[in-house]
Amino acid sequence: MQRFLDLLSELAGSAFENAGIEASYGRVKLSDRPELCEFQTNGALSAAKKYKKNPMEIAESIAERLSKEPAFSCVSAVRPGFVNFNVSNDFLLSYIKDMYEDEERLGVSKTQDPKKIIMDYGGPNVAKPLHVGHLRSAVIGESLKRILRFMGHEVTADIHLGDFGLQMGLIIAELSERKPTLPYFDPDFSGDYPADPPFTISELEEIYPFASKRSKEDPVFAKKASDATYEMQQGRRGYRELLSWIMKVSVSDLKRNYERLKVQFDLWKGEADAEPYIPGMVKMLKDKGLAHESDGALVVDVKRDDDKKEIPPCMILKSDGAALYDTTDLATLIWRVNDYHPDEIMYVVDKRQELHFIQVFRCARMAGIVPDETELTFIGFGTVNGTDGHALKTRDGGVMRLERLLDDIKEKMHEKIIENESLSSDEADKVSDIVSLSAVKYGDLKNQPAKDYIFDMDRFTSSEGDTGPYILYTVVRIKSIVRKYEEAGGNIENIAPSISRAGTEKALLLSLSGFSEEVEKAASSASPNVICAYIYNLCNEFNHFYHETKILSCEDEDEKKGYIALCVLTKRVLERSIELLGFEAPERM
Ligand code: ARG
Repeated sequence: MQRFLDLLSELAGSAFENAGIEASYGRVKLSDRPELCEFQTNGALSAAKKYKKNPMEIAESIAERLSKEPAFSCVSAVRPGFVNFNVSNDFLLSYIKDMYEDEERLGVSKTQDPKKIIMDYGGPNVAKPLHVGHLRSAVIGESLKRILRFMGHEVTADIHLGDFGLQMGLIIAELSERKPTLPYFDPDFSGDYPADPPFTISELEEIYPFASKRSKEDPVFAKKASDATYEMQQGRRGYRELLSWIMKVSVSDLKRNYERLKVQFDLWKGEADAEPYIPGMVKMLKDKGLAHESDGALVVDVKRDDDKKEIPPCMILKSDGAALYDTTDLATLIWRVNDYHPDEIMYVVDKRQELHFIQVFRCARMAGIVPDETELTFIGFGTVNGTDGHALKTRDGGVMRLERLLDDIKEKMHEKIIENESLSSDEADKVSDIVSLSAVKYGDLKNQPAKDYIFDMDRFTSSEGDTGPYILYTVVRIKSIVRKYEEAGGNIENIAPSISRAGTEKALLLSLSGFSEEVEKAASSASPNVICAYIYNLCNEFNHFYHETKILSCEDEDEKKGYIALCVLTKRVLERSIELLGFEAPERM
């Protein structure tokens, strides 16, 4: 289906054409002053310059033509050259009926230009707990993936684990001192290794930061860790076994966390998967004359004359020959391009890493690792702050673990959910999971990705205002209306939207008609917040309508059917929208 604004623009465009002006001047947009009219076109103002005419004269002639069109009503030309109008009920209704028929896509057409996209989001680090910084990457990335797929793009989601060799070497070195009798450390051991993991996830999460800190203060330990990394990479049997335990224990914990967040990846690859490509890449960078030595390190200059700020060189190898973050990201691009031939690779990462990506992208282009036709996109997101305006911390100032945050918000939500005494305790628990996830995700997604935001538990869990729970309350309200209608013998297959004599539902219809426009905007600008703003408004319009209208108790059967069809369509649009945002609604709450 065409977007509603495009349909109106086409009609307005023909009016311009008939007046001897290019049709493109007839672009229609939502009114800047909704109290005056629903839509407007400002084409007369710009056409006046090009055609050297008086803008008001053009506007008047356009208004006259449009007023003869059955699609428009209340057309008026307004100084200095706007044309304001409303859409007629019949025209709007026929669009809404088409949306109702299109149960699957609700009027949203797929893109004409489907792309193959690799999305890099999540980015957790193995053996480290997920913290609140990883929340945004997961929540925004997952929503963008769903939006882009809905638009018809082919998206592969890669978690890009932080599992680079040195991290593993640090853990192995530390463990070899804590539990030296484990068979993994005996180079002569040739029997079967134990079937049980040598550590729990909590131990692992404690060992890694400890060892990482220690290596910075203790050069002997640092050497031991880098030796262990080297031997592991060379295939030392016991170390390989430990590596696979680190991965297993850590990844199963990560999977549990992402499942809770309803975030799904197609690929569980990591930095380590790039390691085999590093030696060849280093050689290529040297052969092409791009890499040179600087203070013992191997670097590639990526600065340009027109740079406004300083762009330091890309670091390929440290002076001890170790690879770095730049290195693994570059080498990762090699397999992503070779194996997938993507049209675009999109990174959803903390915006404080922007410089790193500028360096990596430039180097990848210069070296021909990524062909010109493959787009590289960086979507940087802002920080999650506490109500004090500083980065979110635990009460004692520690890093806020994601699990802890989710538990806290669930507890808060649960207190509110159990006020509804008709829910069994089991159901209340499930509903609290669903609703608290909406609180967290909506609280995040309603902000532009690049902006910082304040994690305000009280506000996020409120059922009033621009929040996830408010959206879900509205969906649940509609579900209950539709359920009651069906329980009383009504069939939603045999009804269609209509406009009642009172006409109080027009604002709701107008809001519904904007769905495809907003989804496309969200996709093209990589901004899930556009969908949040849209559904917040849609919920307000629905609740307005609900409070003004007798729906189930409406005496006129035909009117009632029309109302129910509107409820069903609103429900479908909201359910589709929240699915694109990455959460769902319960049956009751
Ligand atoms: N693991 C990184 C971190 O925790 C994020 C990885 C982002 N993705 C990438 N390709 N560099 O900061």
